[in-house]
Amino acid sequence: LFAGETDFLKGVVAMDGMPPADRLEVCFAGRSNVGKSSLINAITGRKSLARTSNTPGRTQEINFFTLAESHYLVDLPGYGFAEAPVAIVQKWQRLLKAYLSGRQTLRRAFVLIDSRHGVKPVDEEILSLLNKSAVTFQVVLTKTDKLKKGEIDKVVAQVSTALQKHPAAFPEIVLTSSEKGIGIPTLRHIIGTLV
Ligand code: GTP
Ligand code: MG
Repeated sequence: LFAGETDFLKGVVAMDGMPPADRLEVCFAGRSNVGKSSLINAITGRKSLARTSNTPGRTQEINFFTLAESHYLVDLPGYGFAEAPVAIVQKWQRLLKAYLSGRQTLRRAFVLIDSRHGVKPVDEEILSLLNKSAVTFQVVLTKTDKLKKGEIDKVVAQVSTALQKHPAAFPEIVLTSSEKGIGIPTLRHIIGTLV
């Protein structure tokens, strides 16, 4: 799956601009700056396929990438803090929620949580929305290169507890670092099993 072509297809700003729901897709959701775009680049092995930045709020559209013509990878705008005007942020949030709750072909939502911060109230909101919409989701902890082993164990315990109230949660939590390549083969494998 990952040996073939990956390409940027389009950026979408409204539900009616979505590409046809004609293949399986997985998306990457999470707070602004958590590392969604970096993770897509790591998974696809393409350094600057998805645009990354130090400034929260970099990704401002729903970006579709094609994977081997059989899947879409979907990079979402972040939720929570973003350096953009309030009205614009609210527009993304509405689009994000419409997408997460209404996309027929969405097979799994990867919800990225910064391993230094754990699950925050805004994450809880998204988990509840996915759960209500019966979208299977899986938590991916990002930036684990910044933590010591004991600290990672603590955040895994906090996330596991938070997941207990969401039946739509896939139980396995994936530990990653896009910078160090940790957990990237695991994520590729998981996506590969969703055929
Ligand atoms: P928005 O599009 O603004 O919501 O952000 P995003 O979630 O797409 O985050 P992005 O991938 O742009 O990364 C944000 C910042 O985190 C960048 O400065 C990245 O270099 C950094 N970053 C991403 N992944 C990692 C990682 O695994 N380790 C470390 N140390 N930094 C990372
Ligand atoms: Mg981004």
